[in-house]
Amino acid sequence: MKKYQKVAFSLERQIKQGGYRFNERLPSVRECCEQYGVSMSTAQAALRLLEDKALVEARPGAGYYVCYQDTEEYKLSHPGESHIHNRMLQVLSMCAGSGVTDLGTAVLSPGLLPKAALSKQLARLARYEMASLLQPEFSSGHLPLRQEISKRLRLQGIEAGEEQVLVTGGCQDAISMALATIASAGDTIAVESPCFPGLLQVIESLGMKVIEIPGSAECGLSLEALQLAVERWQVSALVICPDFSNPTGSQMPVDNRRALLELAERKDFMVIEDDLFSELQTAGESLPSLKALDQYGRVIYCSSVAKSLGSGLRIGWLCGGKYHQEIMRLKAFRNVSEPLIVQALVAEFMASGGYSRHIRTMGKRLQLNLKRMREWVLSSFPAKTRVSKPQGGFVLWVELPGIDSADLLSVAVANGIAFFPGDVFSSSGQYSSCLRLCGAFDDEDKVKAAVTRLGELARERI
Ligand SMILES: Cc1ncc(COP(=O)(O)O)c(C=O)c1O
Repeated sequence: MKKYQKVAFSLERQIKQGGYRFNERLPSVRECCEQYGVSMSTAQAALRLLEDKALVEARPGAGYYVCYQDTEEYKLSHPGESHIHNRMLQVLSMCAGSGVTDLGTAVLSPGLLPKAALSKQLARLARYEMASLLQPEFSSGHLPLRQEISKRLRLQGIEAGEEQVLVTGGCQDAISMALATIASAGDTIAVESPCFPGLLQVIESLGMKVIEIPGSAECGLSLEALQLAVERWQVSALVICPDFSNPTGSQMPVDNRRALLELAERKDFMVIEDDLFSELQTAGESLPSLKALDQYGRVIYCSSVAKSLGSGLRIGWLCGGKYHQEIMRLKAFRNVSEPLIVQALVAEFMASGGYSRHIRTMGKRLQLNLKRMREWVLSSFPAKTRVSKPQGGFVLWVELPGIDSADLLSVAVANGIAFFPGDVFSSSGQYSSCLRLCGAFDDEDKVKAAVTRLGELARERI
């Protein structure tokens, strides 16, 4: 065996035994030279051989990444009911405890929000338009808001006129209505795993079953795992956040997006796209949404201003495609419309250009926050702690080396610190050694002190 084949063989064995996992970066050419005592050309030839065998792929400027996936690796749990609600209430109350620094809840701190501009616009609306804003609105939402949303969607490559936009009470409400329209109690819904707890709660409330599809913190949901799931079980819909999923911050590559849509068409399931983080991209290239790529009419698009203007406004929207009329009917039965004054406020803020300016400014701040928070975690948590490195959104996913995060939370709360433990991101008890941190803070000193102290508490548990 030639030298380069020996190096390739050794790396191949490590990949197949799980030493390097799917989407993980292999040692660089230079590192291979050092590790194996070979020349640059030998190391390069070894990596190219692995590439020829489709075990790794070269990413320009970034190095070689594992693309091999052992399908036996997917230990898919069976579709099952979700019972996360009570545990979520417990965690939320821990995070809201008095004197507790909440590092977990994924909300924007008030200091990041355009409070003065919003107050000014609200005062103007109250002064000049109160009478009309007190009248009922029986359409699919305040027209100026739907027009603004439609314009923003067009910028993202989504052709949806204002008549194809339905204003909802947030993104979760949009997903809930979409699911209630396309599936029934007992049906199985696929979700990315780990999955944001609100979605597990929605599925629980609708009496549907959930199947959790694993993925990676870089590329998100694994298509191979999804394919296995849809071949094994009847899946009615997939709910997915392709841009900066919560909690891992993963971003699905564009080829995977196309392949996902083809799979949905072939296996006849709907895709509910949760897009509320895509405007908060802080690095890398922005990718077309699933809705923009959808040629088959498979995607129901949902979003909101929760992660851009504040969760308290409770304004979201959806484009229901072929189900749009049915979802509108459900909305009319439920609560007719969202408060007009809030819809008008968001519409004015968007129309004035203030919304786009705010997103740009806040995006820079969030990027810096996440960078710093990662550094604090890496410098204060136990060795071998892994932290996600998202290119957008504002949450970090932390994998602890064998420490139970639920136990750590109890100790942390006693020390005045809270976070979201990993178990709330799964309905099948996974992620017990993980946790989520929120980087949308405005008080850097306080958060730095809390993260550092949390790291100490984690180290004490080793
Ligand atoms: C991925 C994701 N989707 C939806 C929501 C809920 O959004 P909204 O507050 O607009 O209902 C959240 C909130 O945390 C989220 O993280």
